[in-house]
Amino acid sequence: MSAKENWPSEKISPEELLKMAREAADRAYVPYSRFHVGAAMLFENDEVIKSCNVENASYGITICAERAGVVIMISQGKKNPLAVAVAGSHEDSDDYFKVECPPCGACRQALMEFNKDMLVVMASKGEAKVYELKKLLPHSFTLDPDY
Ligand code: THU
Repeated sequence: MSAKENWPSEKISPEELLKMAREAADRAYVPYSRFHVGAAMLFENDEVIKSCNVENASYGITICAERAGVVIMISQGKKNPLAVAVAGSHEDSDDYFKVECPPCGACRQALMEFNKDMLVVMASKGEAKVYELKKLLPHSFTLDPDY
């Protein structure tokens, strides 16, 4: 399943957005898992927000890269994310960033809140693949009885 034909930007390609997610992953604070994740969220006018995962000695309060991106987005007064690229890998991996790093279920739900038509870019064998968020999280939770 590829949603590349619906890509919303002429200036920033899925490959470029994925590259930005990889750059963001370099900044991850991951002393416990050593698993770096970066997200790059694309908005209208080709604006991009980069975010990474931030771990804590109290493991359960770790924040994923994608949800960190949502917090930055709202804090900066931005709306309607069009797409998000996610890249990640363990520090020791040979395939650093070549393997898919699908957003976890909680992050899919968090992203759905802000645009049900959002596209999600992931690396697959070194290539950028584009997915539809609503297909990655069918039947998501909503308070809207008409959705
Ligand atoms: N992680 C993310 O940043 N995003 C996800 O969608 C799944 C997992 C992080 C959390 C933790 O710091 C590390 O990956 C290993 O679970």
